[in-house]
Order: sequence, then structure tokens, then C-alpha cells
Amino acid sequence: MAIVPNEPVLALRGISKRFGAVQALTDIQLEVRAGEVVALVGDNGAGKSTLVKAIAGVGPADEGVLEWQGRPVEITRPHDAQDLGIATVYQDLALCDNIDVVGNLFLGREILRAGVLDEVEMERRARELLSTLSIRIPSVRIPIASLSGGQRQTVAIARSMLGEPKLVILDEPTAALGVEQTAQVLDLVERLRERGLAVILISHNMVDVKAVADRVAVLRLGRNNGTFDVRTTSQEEIISAITGATDNAVTRRKARSGEAAK
Ligand SMILES: Nc1ncnc2c1ncn2[C@@H]1O[C@H](COP(=O)(O)OP(=O)(O)O)[C@@H](O)[C@H]1O
Ligand SMILES: [Mg+2]
Repeated sequence: MAIVPNEPVLALRGISKRFGAVQALTDIQLEVRAGEVVALVGDNGAGKSTLVKAIAGVGPADEGVLEWQGRPVEITRPHDAQDLGIATVYQDLALCDNIDVVGNLFLGREILRAGVLDEVEMERRARELLSTLSIRIPSVRIPIASLSGGQRQTVAIARSMLGEPKLVILDEPTAALGVEQTAQVLDLVERLRERGLAVILISHNMVDVKAVADRVAVLRLGRNNGTFDVRTTSQEEIISAITGATDNAVTRRKARSGEAAK
């Protein structure tokens, strides 16, 4: 199905998840549209990874509804998420250091010709993919180990594009990177948005969030604590929501139940 600009891609309605005695997520709401970058932020333990796993089918939610392009869907296995068009790039990247860029891009989805690996075709498609995304690396035939951290991250993101997803989830893509390498990755995120993809960007870095996100959704102690328009919200306001200096979830609940938020 074609990507329609601004169309709702994913919506979470009342997602909850418990691990034994730990209520990791409570009644989470989140919406992401085509051509939009939503940053998902929150302190350690806020529930970001748990939420990503629920969306990616790695650890399904206990309660709540996931809507995909306006329709409720079941995502109970990673395969379900992939089939819908959800790609997740995890922090550890899952790239093989000793294999070259082409090999990594097509790992698990190798192109065969008459039963043998079609290296020529894979290399051609690898170049094409990297060039479409304006990713510059010295050669597609060098091992991943010889690339910089930023280049590896862009290769991992490029790999997720092969399934032609509509939503890409990036888990802390710049966490281990220096300034210049971070800029490479954020540039790529901009390009994904330009191509009409919906992006969920998990980040600890408010500078990155301000640079690249359209909206920022704050999680605190497993609950929503506000969603902000990045252009009109200061870094300080976002940080207050993360630390709980402003308890937006509580304020909103009180307002809804008619109780004055004093
Ligand atoms: N597999 C698990 N078993 C038990 N508790 C878990 C598990 N995964 C996460 N949690 C707990 O759920 C809460 C949210 O964790 P997590 O989603 O990893 O937060 P974040 O990614 O925002 O740092 C934490 O209290 C964490 O300890
Ligand atoms: Mg996490």
C-alpha cells in the first residue's frame, strides 16, 4: 500500500504490560503519522524498551489495542510486525563485524540465482540502496568492523529499509557516537522522514531530539507524561516531564475526572 502523507500509521490505545510484580507500562497512548519523527524519551526504567518490544512483537502487551493505518491489529510475533511494515533497529545493531557491507545488508534475505548467492545483484542493490539514502561509505566490500560507529549505524538503518517498512523504530541510534557521526545518523533520519516514513526515535539526547523530532512523547514510570511539539517546547520543559518536576500524566487525569488540578 502506498504511503499517504500525514496518514496515521501506528496508534497505541491503552497499552499495559506487567512483569510479575513490576507494572512496566500503564495505559500508554501514542500516535505516529507518515512523514513524522516522534521521539520517545524517559529516564532509565521508564518503559521505552518494553513499549518498543510490544510494537515489534517481541514482547506483546497484556492489554490495549494497536492500530495500524486506522485498523486494530494483533502483533504477537516479530513476524507480524514485519509483515505490517514495522522495522526495528536495536541498539546492539546485530551486524556481523567480519562480513562486508553487502553481506550484512542481505543477511537472512540473500538473493539467489540458480541456487547460488547472486553476489553481483546483491552488490548492485546495496549500492543503489545506499545511494538512495545518501549514505557514504568507502566501499560496500569492506568488513563492517572497519567502518566508524556512525557508518555502522547508517548501514543497520539501511538494512531495515530493505523490507520497505512504513514505520522505523530506532533504539538510541546515536548513543555511542561522537558529534560528527551523530550528525550523519540524524541526517539519515531526516531522509527517512522526507521519504514519508514514520519514525519512532528513542533517545536520551535532548539536542538530538530538538534537532530531528517533530513531537516528543515522554514516558515516566511506565505512563505517558505528556506529548510535546518540539518546535514550541524548550529542552527544560521536556526534561521536567522526564524527571517528574511537571507531572503531566497526573495533571491530565485530575482534569479529566473533573477534579481541579491545584
Ligand atoms: N523482562 C523483564 N522482566 C522483568 N522486569 C522487566 C523486564 N523488562 C523490563 N522490566 C522492567 O520494566 C520497567 C521498564 O523497563 P524498560 O522498558 O527497560 O525501561 P527503559 O527502556 O525506559 O529504560 C523497569 O522497571 C524494568 O526493570
Ligand atoms: Mg531501554
